[in-house]
Amino acid sequence: MLLHVDGEHSAVGRPYVICSCAMSLDGRIDDGSDARLILSSPADLDRVDEVRAGCDAILVGAATVRRDNPRLAVRAEHRRAARVAAGLPPTPVKVVLSGGGDLDSRSRVFGTDSVETLVYRGAGSAAPPPFWSAALVPGGRVSVVDLPGRPLVDVAAVLADLDRRGVRRLLVEGGTSVHTAFLTAGLVDELHLAVAPFFVGEPDAPTFVGPGAFPQDVHSPLRLAEVRQLDDVVLLRYLVPTSA
Ligand SMILES: NC(=O)c1ccc[n+]([C@@H]2O[C@H](COP(=O)([O-])OP(=O)(O)OC[C@H]3O[C@@H](n4cnc5c(N)ncnc54)[C@H](OP(=O)(O)O)[C@@H]3O)[C@@H](O)[C@H]2O)c1
Repeated sequence: MLLHVDGEHSAVGRPYVICSCAMSLDGRIDDGSDARLILSSPADLDRVDEVRAGCDAILVGAATVRRDNPRLAVRAEHRRAARVAAGLPPTPVKVVLSGGGDLDSRSRVFGTDSVETLVYRGAGSAAPPPFWSAALVPGGRVSVVDLPGRPLVDVAAVLADLDRRGVRRLLVEGGTSVHTAFLTAGLVDELHLAVAPFFVGEPDAPTFVGPGAFPQDVHSPLRLAEVRQLDDVVLLRYLVPTSA
C-alpha cells in the first residue's frame, strides 16, 4: 500500500488532487442568508492561501462562482512573487465546471491576474454565451473546453485534460456537488477540512458532500495525517491510501 505525501504527483496520469473545504460544527458549508458565510479564521485563510500557492490550478463548480464570486487567486504578495521567481504565473490557473453555462461575465474568476480561466462543460450544452470571447472579459483569458457529457462532464476527463495542460497539483474548493463528484469517483488524494467553532443550524444549508458511494467508507477509511489549530478553527488533513 502506498500513501501519497505532500508534493507528490499522483502516478496515475492525472494531477494530485486536494479537496479543501471549511465547515461548521454541524457540517454545513454555507447558510441561507444573502451574505457569504465566513467559516475560516484569518490564520486558516492564510493556510489556504499557502496551499493555493503550491498548486497549479484551483477548481470550483459554477454554483460557487454564482453564489460566492471567488477570485480563486493567491493573495499574499510574497507568495505571488515566489511563484513568479519560479517561472510560474502569480496565481494558479482557475477552473470552473459548468453544465449549463450560466455564468456572469463580470464574475471575478474571469477577470483577474490575466491568468487563464478554463470552463469545462458538456459537449451537449448549448453554445457558449458571447461573453466567453476573451476580448469581452477585460484583462481575462477564458477558454471553454467541451468534453463528452450532456450537460455534466466526467470529472476524470477533466483531470486528464488538466494533466495534458501541465497541471500536476489541483486544489478542488467545492461546492457540495463538485466535492461529491471527485470523492465518489475516487479521484482525491488528500482532504483538508477546516472546522469552524459554531453551528449553522439550518436544515437546508449545504453540506460538505451529498449522498453517494464513497470509496472511503467504513471499510476503507482515510488516514488522518494532521490536526492543526488555527485560532479557533481546526484543520483536519487526511490522506487517501492507494493500492500500489
Ligand atoms: N465552505 C466552503 O469551503 C465552500 C467552498 C465552496 C463552496 N461552498 C458553498 O457550496 C455551495 C455550492 O455548492 P453546490 O453543490 O450547490 O454547487 P457547486 O458544486 O459549486 O456547483 C455546481 C454546479 O457546477 C457545475 N458542475 C458540477 N459538476 C459538473 C460536471 N461534472 N460537469 C459540468 N458541470 C458541473 C454545474 O453548473 P451549472 O449549474 O452551470 O450547470 C452545477 O450546477 C454554495 O453555498 C457555496 O457557498 C462552500
